[in-house]
Amino acid sequence: MEGGWPHQERWLLCLLLSLLLQDSPALTQSSNTFAINCSGFDERGLNQTAFQSVFDRKAFRPVVNISIPTRVNISFTLSAILEVDARIQLLTSFIWLELFWDNPFISWNPEECGGIKELTVAADNLWLPDIFIVEFMDIDRTPSGLVANVNSKGHIKYKKPMKVNSICSLDIFYFPFDQQNCTLTFSSLLYTVNDMLLGMEKEVWEIADTSRHLIQTQGEWQLLSINKATPKLTVRSSLYDQITFYVAIQRRPRLYVINLLVPSGFLIAIDALSFFLPIESDNRAPFKMTLLLGYTVFLLMMNDLLPVSGTPLIGVYFALCLSLMVVSLLEAIFLTYLLNLVTTQPPPMPHWLHSLLRCYLRATDFSKRSQKENGSPDPSLIHLPGLKEPGVKAGPGKAWLNGDPHSTWAQLEQQQKVDIWVKFSLVLDTLLFCIYLIFVTSSLITVIILWSN
Ligand SMILES: *[C@@H]1O[C@H](CO)[C@@H](O)[C@H](O)[C@H]1NC(C)=O
Ligand SMILES: *[C@@H]1O[C@H](CO)[C@@H](O)[C@H](O)[C@H]1NC(C)=O
Ligand SMILES: *[C@@H]1O[C@H](CO)[C@@H](O)[C@H](O)[C@H]1NC(C)=O
Ligand SMILES: *[C@@H]1O[C@H](CO)[C@@H](O)[C@H](O)[C@H]1NC(C)=O
Ligand SMILES: *[C@@H]1O[C@H](CO)[C@@H](O)[C@H](O)[C@H]1NC(C)=O
Repeated sequence: MEGGWPHQERWLLCLLLSLLLQDSPALTQSSNTFAINCSGFDERGLNQTAFQSVFDRKAFRPVVNISIPTRVNISFTLSAILEVDARIQLLTSFIWLELFWDNPFISWNPEECGGIKELTVAADNLWLPDIFIVEFMDIDRTPSGLVANVNSKGHIKYKKPMKVNSICSLDIFYFPFDQQNCTLTFSSLLYTVNDMLLGMEKEVWEIADTSRHLIQTQGEWQLLSINKATPKLTVRSSLYDQITFYVAIQRRPRLYVINLLVPSGFLIAIDALSFFLPIESDNRAPFKMTLLLGYTVFLLMMNDLLPVSGTPLIGVYFALCLSLMVVSLLEAIFLTYLLNLVTTQPPPMPHWLHSLLRCYLRATDFSKRSQKENGSPDPSLIHLPGLKEPGVKAGPGKAWLNGDPHSTWAQLEQQQKVDIWVKFSLVLDTLLFCIYLIFVTSSLITVIILWSN
């Protein structure tokens, strides 16, 4: 029993020593364990067998210790904004996605290998991080045959073009002066934070600057800015690393201003001006009718330019213009009817209306008198077509001379009634025109203020 214990101790010591002796060369060599033997790099081109051990490992994440997460750096360049479809809420853009990561199994000594510091390897032979865009709503049409850049320290740069159809919450209320804020969220499909960490290769303002310079299209949309955020995504108990880019784009409104807003504004202006057509000549209502017809045709033709979904402010603006035209046409019809009525069979004017009108006329009397002095005709003396022959105007005196006082009195009274009603119609026209103008300007100002926000 006595000899057994030191024997055991000696055996343990031997084991420990042999372990140490075995381990120490392995430890010192560990940085070189995966170095690629590049004895023939410069003589007969690159020999695949040197890389075969690396290529064989491509099924697994390239790490020495599986509990070390792989750090993937992301950068991208937005090279075109192809389409923004508000109906299906889709932004179609074109980006160059750049991924950077380290593969510890690739390393060589450039001095031994003919000074080669960087190689291009077909990407199919390497492990690639499964970075995808969360908003991406299409199948990935990444072209095959892409290559990756590998340097002598195992740093890999992989670049791929992507046509990104990403969903984006598009708000077209301010069309055509709208800005959209779309997100592109880069994330790993399966690797959690324990396996993969995402980082930025460049600062986000560099990405925005490069993209702004690169976007050649003078299309409808221009890039405003790119911002980023790094929210982590929690799905059940797993945490995924993410980088979210906010791509802010703005519509160039010129096309819509020239084709939609300006013509519409002109038509409304003409509609307002048509109030100056004298209501007594039967021109106003047909003119307004023609204008309304023209506006309807204009809206039909320009319908293609409008967004298909949602209710943009411009739709409200068009509806407003159209209803203003309809209202002014109705006003013209009503006044024509009124004039026609009062000149053929004037009803007695209600007392309150009469005194109100007299008040108004007295208030404007002064200005009228000064106008009359300037030589403009008295509006109450206008000639109403179809009312009576010119001879009748001087009627009372003639009738008096003809010796029929009874009928003359009746005619005079009738004439007075007609006059007061005509005056009333003209005043009503002016009043409605003022209300119309106030409404047009206030609604236009409201719309413009809403747009300029
Ligand atoms: C590299 O491989 C060649 C044979 O292909 C061999 O002769 C040479 O010793 C190897 N070099 C090292 C450093 O292992
Ligand atoms: C590549 O290297 C291996 C051994 O390292 C050698 O057997 C083979 O002939 C080489 N192939 C070429 C094309 O040089
Ligand atoms: C891997 O790394 C973890 C933490 O860094 C360490 O605890 C573990 O011992 C390592 N495993 C190996 C086999 O080196
Ligand atoms: C990623 O970027 C960070 C900071 O820019 C840098 O320290 C790190 O080395 C990069 N890693 C890779 C794999 O490129
Ligand atoms: C886009 O939205 C994000 C988050 O709501 C915000 O942080 C960012 O400032 C917005 N960008 C613009 C240009 O409005």
